[in-house]
Amino acid sequence: MERGLLIVFEGIDGCGKSTQLRMLAERLRARGANVVETKEPTNGPVGKRIRAMAQSGNAVAPEEELAWFIEDRREHVRDKLEPELAKGSIILCDRYWLSTVAYQGARGFATDEIMRNSEAEFPIPDLALIFEITADEGLARVNARGGRSEPVFEEIEFQKKVEKNFAALERGWIVRVNARPAVEVIHDDVVDRVRALGVLID
Ligand code: TMP
Repeated sequence: MERGLLIVFEGIDGCGKSTQLRMLAERLRARGANVVETKEPTNGPVGKRIRAMAQSGNAVAPEEELAWFIEDRREHVRDKLEPELAKGSIILCDRYWLSTVAYQGARGFATDEIMRNSEAEFPIPDLALIFEITADEGLARVNARGGRSEPVFEEIEFQKKVEKNFAALERGWIVRVNARPAVEVIHDDVVDRVRALGVLID
């Protein structure tokens, strides 16, 4: 059976990636594709621990935070991503290791080292879409949508560093999407990028 595809959705908080992921999933399913929607941090035990920490406002040591994201990813790759890729599924993943490069890089870790280690250990995405807006716009959207806040990450100076780290990433499989226009306009852009992978979309 042909190996599936891994498409990841990345960007700072409030960039609109989760909305775009859902829209693409719906569009692909309408064409009969076998689509799996997933995310990091996951809903597994380590992912839950990360969310509880982020929502509590009590940050843990940066080393511990980095270790948690990697531990969560190891389980995700082993239990979900690898099996689904082997089955030929199209996986749409809301955040993956480019988030570790950008966010834990903003905590002070060397971005090139996180990138190298991640590429060596985990499946490399077929496509990474980075949704681009500024940190100010992103935080304004996060505050406007309300819901649970994650004060450990949603802080302007930190988000500015994250934005810079995302902007510096360069790989052949990374594509940048302007996340400012209307959601339908962004969706059309996403569809074009996915079609370029050879995926059939009406
Ligand atoms: P979410 O808001 O997209 O659910 O992600 C939760 C937070 O976790 C978000 O602020 C980004 C952060 N994060 C990291 O710092 N490192 C990572 O590796 C991942 C996957 C997320």
